[in-house]
Amino acid sequence: MHLGLIHHVGYVVADLDAEIPVYRDVLGMEVGVREVMPDQGVEAVLLGGGPSYVELIAPVSEDTGVARFLAKKGPGMHHVAFAVPHLESTLRELSDEGVELIDTAPRRGLGGHMVAFLHPRSTGGVLTELVEEH
Ligand code: CO
Repeated sequence: MHLGLIHHVGYVVADLDAEIPVYRDVLGMEVGVREVMPDQGVEAVLLGGGPSYVELIAPVSEDTGVARFLAKKGPGMHHVAFAVPHLESTLRELSDEGVELIDTAPRRGLGGHMVAFLHPRSTGGVLTELVEEH
C-alpha cells in the first residue's frame, strides 16, 4: 500500500465562527463544507480549494476526545489526514502489518467522506486519519 497526498490537516479550535474569518478574509481560503457530527461531538469546516485542506474542528459537547484535547492542550494541530483510494482494504493491510487502528472499519466523516483513524502509538505520536478519495 501507499498513502496518497495529504488530504487535510485538522486543527482543534474553541469556536469555528471566531476562527473562520482569519482563514477566509486574511489568508484567502475558500470555506467549504461545514457540519455538526453528533457521534463525535464536534462541528467541523473544511477550508481551502484542494487538493489539500485545513479542517477546523470545535467541540459541541464536553465529554468528547476533541473537548478533552482542547481543555488539556488548548487550540492547535490535532491530526493529519492522507487520501487513500480504497479505505477498507488499506485498513486490512495496516492491521495485518501490526498498525493499531482506532477505527477498524470506515465511518462517515466530514462532507460524507469515508474516514478512519490510526492510533498515534503506531504513527510516531501523530494522530493520523485516512480519507477515501476516488
Ligand atoms: Co480530519
